[in-house]
Amino acid sequence: MMSGSSDQAPAGPDLTAGIDASSLVDGAMLLGHVGNDPVLLARSAGTVYAIGATCTHYGGPLAEGLLVGDTVRCPWHHACFSLKTGEPLRAPALDRVACYRVEESGGKIFTRESVEPPSVFLRTLSSPPTSIVIIGAGAAGVAAAEMLRRCGYAGPIKIFDQLDTAPVDRPNLSKDYLAGTAEEAWVYLRPDDFYTSHNIELVSGQRIARIDTKARNVVTADGATVKFSALLLATGSSPIHLPIPGGDLPSAHYLRTLDDSKAIIAAAQNGN
Ligand SMILES: Cc1cc2nc3c(=O)[nH]c(=O)nc-3n(C[C@H](O)[C@H](O)[C@H](O)COP(=O)(O)OP(=O)(O)OC[C@H]3O[C@@H](n4cnc5c(N)ncnc54)[C@H](O)[C@@H]3O)c2cc1C
Ligand code: FES
Repeated sequence: MMSGSSDQAPAGPDLTAGIDASSLVDGAMLLGHVGNDPVLLARSAGTVYAIGATCTHYGGPLAEGLLVGDTVRCPWHHACFSLKTGEPLRAPALDRVACYRVEESGGKIFTRESVEPPSVFLRTLSSPPTSIVIIGAGAAGVAAAEMLRRCGYAGPIKIFDQLDTAPVDRPNLSKDYLAGTAEEAWVYLRPDDFYTSHNIELVSGQRIARIDTKARNVVTADGATVKFSALLLATGSSPIHLPIPGGDLPSAHYLRTLDDSKAIIAAAQNGN
């Protein structure tokens, strides 16, 4: 998802018309617009950057975030975007924001058309892993696989998860979906075809039972052995069950998975 148009009148100045260069001091950020798109203008170490101003996670206002070097941190959940390219450098955002060409002349800063900058991450490792196994298809495992592809890693990537549902964005499970105001499609991290289109092999419903670091392989609960050149553990954590009387009553619910969410919705509908 790129930052896009909205029905509201865009805030701040029209950046294509130019702003006074002295109004953007080093370390400052300014919200304006290009057409209907909100755009963040920032000056860092003398260079002026312009990127989409709306976080691709849940629409946080990047102009109210933190400028750190050539990056900006979203004020809501701290996703980090490159000012040079608009790429998401840190979770939870997965998609880039638009990136604009900037011109400074005659004491003014003009924001021009949006551009598709080359990824700054395309770098060649001297000896890249020949295959990568990731245990855990939560936000961390999926983001790592995606970042590997964005960095230009072309070798096999296999993600194992013990859950048999497609990877979900867990925070979505406890909010609009639980309230019944969002469709199930909204809870998934990525659409189904994302994994095949990025040549990422997603193995759902398969628990990794053992890791043999010497032989460099993992063993599934079914007993299959899978070799790896590099292994990423992204196994997350599970909720602590209340160690108090009543903590195990059927009406005490724990919410971690999509199935948990569905069970809570069903229980609420049945008055439990
Ligand atoms: C209901 C809910 C609401 C939340 N709301 C927010 C919020 O509003 N804001 C916020 O910042 N955070 C929130 N969080 C926390 C956030 O979701 C987690 O921090 C995040 O999901 C962690 O991602 P992860 O990939 O590290 O781990 P996880 O999402 O836990 O994923 C780890 C995966 O590893 C798999 N796994 C573990 N062991 C194995 C194994 N041996 N073999 C195969 N697979 C394995 C698990 O099945 C799991 O799918 C919420 C969490 C929940 C549950
Ligand atoms: S809205 Fe920006 S990190 Fe969540």
